[in-house]
Amino acid sequence: MADDKQTRRSRSSAQSDPDVERDQQPATLDECRRCTLWRNATQAVPGEGPRRASIMLVGEQPGDAEDLQGRPFVGPAGALLDKALEEAGLKRKDVYVTNAVKHFKWTPRGKRRMHKTPGQREIEACGYWLEQELRTVRARVIVALGATALKAVLDDSHARLQDALGKTIGHGEHLVVATYHPSFALRAPDPETRRHVYDTIVAALQTADKLGHK
Ligand code: URA
Repeated sequence: MADDKQTRRSRSSAQSDPDVERDQQPATLDECRRCTLWRNATQAVPGEGPRRASIMLVGEQPGDAEDLQGRPFVGPAGALLDKALEEAGLKRKDVYVTNAVKHFKWTPRGKRRMHKTPGQREIEACGYWLEQELRTVRARVIVALGATALKAVLDDSHARLQDALGKTIGHGEHLVVATYHPSFALRAPDPETRRHVYDTIVAALQTADKLGHK
């Protein structure tokens, strides 16, 4: 019976969009057709870092540079994140870095590809991969960088970053520390806000470091 339902669901999503199989359980990211984002992306961007890291950083989705290079946080937001990690006394090579959504979602503006925030459907579709990373790496501490990451990590579409900032949230075997997305520290309108956002990210990474050693 359950199988029948599953088959019906797969068929109806396949009928509405032949390139998407929402119930697909792909073996590799390259094969993933659980949402439409693969179509306009250069490649999927997997997480990277030690398989047994005690801290996992989760961002939103790859940006333009990440899409081209196939690695997470290697563009401007990544440079800021690297600086914040260093200031917090952490080494990038010791933490696992990934994204809630593994393909770049963008819209054209002239010759540029402008970032588009992933929707809840895409976050849920890609939860398939984040769950696997959470199970494999088994990091005690998860740092959610921004609202999309927080929703994905807590598997809660109603989670709000403002409510979670500065708190440590127990979630299954993980401790979740929520902070701003590094891009916000780059594009906030005034220097005071940018400084505040950056300092908040550094403080969250310091908290994660302490929790990771407990
Ligand atoms: N922003 C993200 O959320 N992730 C990246 O990998 C790069 C930018």
